[in-house]
Amino acid sequence: MPLTRTADLMNTGAAVAAFNVITLEHAEAIATGAEAAGAPAILQISENAVRFHGGDLAPLAAATAAVARASSARLALHLDHVESTDLLHAASAHDFGSVMFDASKLPYGDNVKATAAAVRWGHERGIWVEAELGRIGGKAGDAHTPGVRTDPAEAAAYVADTGVDALAVAVGSTHAMTERTATLDHALITALREAAGVPLVLHGSSGVPEAELRRAVAAGMTKINVGTALNTAYTTAVRTYLDTHPTTVDPRRYLVPAREAMAETVAAFLRAVSPG
Ligand code: G3H
Ligand code: ZN
Repeated sequence: MPLTRTADLMNTGAAVAAFNVITLEHAEAIATGAEAAGAPAILQISENAVRFHGGDLAPLAAATAAVARASSARLALHLDHVESTDLLHAASAHDFGSVMFDASKLPYGDNVKATAAAVRWGHERGIWVEAELGRIGGKAGDAHTPGVRTDPAEAAAYVADTGVDALAVAVGSTHAMTERTATLDHALITALREAAGVPLVLHGSSGVPEAELRRAVAAGMTKINVGTALNTAYTTAVRTYLDTHPTTVDPRRYLVPAREAMAETVAAFLRAVSPG
């Protein structure tokens, strides 16, 4: 079916999960998982993934969009953790209905200035813009920072000063966790939802247990970002296959179980965060 827009998935009152695409198999697995769960989903490509593919957004964006259009699930395309203005501007040449502009490394005032400019650029083109306040650690080369929290009063000022459509907040999760051991501050989620007045985004959701995710959604979290859990499923399946088939050379042999494992992971997250 035609691509849907992130904005249309974010303003229904229900939560939606967003999954990182690194390879074509990731995109295929997200589409299959969404179909199996009967839920909409967001396919997101991060600046890191674009860099991995040589810096040109076009090939991965085109492949991901084609996979999404061929699916019977409602799927949207999002460009994630964009720090480069050049990459931000490249989004409009492709099928992205939304972008996360990530100036969270900058001091507050510089973050506001850079993000407000990104929002103006996005809104002139009908692109929905997410941004981050309160640095969620664990991205490549970053320290894990599970203790960092976003302040509700600062969140309200940040939304007013930047005009962002959604806000990524630090409430206890951290990127790249391979165990689901994070505990979230649910009272803070509720306070941030009221103060910010825009949908909230949970980054680093791979490390959050399912019951915590359900509670986070009930407290007011709208977009649930998942990346590492797919990579754990993928790599575990490949490792298991190769351990028992040491002479295999055709990658399709181990990419089939890897893709299936990712699709099952996608469906499980969607069942946890999307209404049945
Ligand atoms: O923006 C992407 C997400 O925050 C993914 O985080 O890889 O820890 O699940 P994760
Ligand atoms: Zn993230």
